[in-house]
Amino acid sequence: MGIVVLTGAGISAESGIATFRDANGLWAEHRVEDVATPDGYERNPLLVLDFYNKRRRELKSVKPNPAHLALAKLEQGRDDVLVVTQNVDNLHEQAGTKSLIHMHGELNKIRCTECETVFDCYDDITLASKCEKCGTEGTLRPHIVWFGEMPFMMDEISYALHSCELFISIGTSGNVYPAAGFVQSARSAGAHTVELNLEPSLGASMFKEKVHGKAGEVVPVYVNKILSGELEF
Ligand code: APR
Repeated sequence: MGIVVLTGAGISAESGIATFRDANGLWAEHRVEDVATPDGYERNPLLVLDFYNKRRRELKSVKPNPAHLALAKLEQGRDDVLVVTQNVDNLHEQAGTKSLIHMHGELNKIRCTECETVFDCYDDITLASKCEKCGTEGTLRPHIVWFGEMPFMMDEISYALHSCELFISIGTSGNVYPAAGFVQSARSAGAHTVELNLEPSLGASMFKEKVHGKAGEVVPVYVNKILSGELEF
């Protein structure tokens, strides 16, 4: 894989979706332990379902911004791009990105804890909702990776990181592993590494190149540099 792009909440901020750790971010208003852990779900499933119902509803009105669109353009211009997103929104898909891994799951998917079937889901889930496959009531949970759970498709991601020439990290604070460690994997594979973020992330010193600014502004400029051949890596 030539180019691996990791995205985080910052890429969707200009589309109007709250990040997690900025002031007024989701973790300023909600306790992680309550809404983003298996224990929290066991203690109060209704609270957890409502938290994700509200965020799923938000997706009906949000639109991709120039950063998402630029990444879709990058993929159209080359055949060696993989976007790995920590985001659970659908803005990369809306922008047209096809080579995409949702490592932390998707708001528009749910999973039955009884039969493990994953379904598309665009509406609210309640404790009375039934699994379409096994018919059990109250077993549907968001198809989201919570703290303490293993992110999805790690083998595919790891393979791509270890064979990439360019690693771009966009809009992520570098607080959450394993994603925060991807830059090290890419570096050890000899890749050029760049951070495009509003401010230096926790792991900023790990990146060879850093461009700080709004994703909607810096990502299109960087993508144009790649596509024009100005950037050699
Ligand atoms: N453009 C670029 N970067 C931005 C913008 C913007 N317009 N707005 C905010 N940012 C940056 C912030 O400066 C911050 O460094 O985006 C980053 C967002 O960080 P977090 O809120 O921590 O989000 P993220 O890194 O995606 O979180 C990782 O944590 O709770 C979990 O599972 C959740 O996937 C999420 C994971």
